[in-house]
Amino acid sequence: MAKRVTIHRLRVMKERGERIVMVTAYDYTQARIIDSTGIPVILVGDSLGNVVLGFESTIPVTVDDIVRHTAAVVRGASFPLIVADMPFMSYHVDEKTSMYNAGRIIQEGGAQAVKIEGGLPVAPVARRLVDAGIAVMGHIGLTPQSVHQLGGYRIQGRELESGNRLISDALAIEDSGAFALVLELIPAELAEKITERLHIPTIGIGAGSATDGQVQVLYDMLGLTPDFKPRHAGNYAEIGSLMREALERYSEDVKSGLFPADSNAFHTDLKYESESENLAR
Ligand code: KIV
Repeated sequence: MAKRVTIHRLRVMKERGERIVMVTAYDYTQARIIDSTGIPVILVGDSLGNVVLGFESTIPVTVDDIVRHTAAVVRGASFPLIVADMPFMSYHVDEKTSMYNAGRIIQEGGAQAVKIEGGLPVAPVARRLVDAGIAVMGHIGLTPQSVHQLGGYRIQGRELESGNRLISDALAIEDSGAFALVLELIPAELAEKITERLHIPTIGIGAGSATDGQVQVLYDMLGLTPDFKPRHAGNYAEIGSLMREALERYSEDVKSGLFPADSNAFHTDLKYESESENLAR
């Protein structure tokens, strides 16, 4: 069995110009499939709030949710590095709570790393976690946990000032000891500039092709979110349509008596006594 990918390996991949592939997963079955593909990084994203739990944003996701889903993913995948999101407000209140929550995600969930959203303001938290031996991935640009403050899911860093601020954020996160940085929904040119400036790998989503790697939300790229097709999402399958078709056929077959077939049934030679006194009691 191939050894699990490490944060060191990702750094080597950047140095060698090997693209890093990352995808989200939320359960054991998805993790097993991803494990068999050789994809090196799984993110147990708090996007589970949207795609699995049906919330409008990632804000209601709790540390308990992340711990439970991370543990399921870890049971299913032995090769990829497993990074889990620290949810909204789980690393902002104070240092003690941030450390405790990250510790739970690593210890109970079994993740190898945590991801936190934000730039300069969260760099001290990132440093504290790194000092405690926790591998930290950063995430700047569109940071969904701040959706209300950002005024919606919109591209960040479009003006020179906000773009330059994102460069400072990226440098601060690298200085904190983070091992990689997600760049979400920013202009491709800005992502390229940040990628050139950093020694740690950048992983883009809606940030063009010059980043060191790409991440996609599994449900978006597989066509499981039919009413939501973001421009930056790859379109690699229409699993949602396949599921609907299969369920419609199943429903028709049950109604018409075609399912179950004899091959789906179990038989015996026993002669059951339907009139037995014992059964009547
Ligand atoms: O939660 C998530 O899926 C993420 C990715 C969009 C990077 O943070």
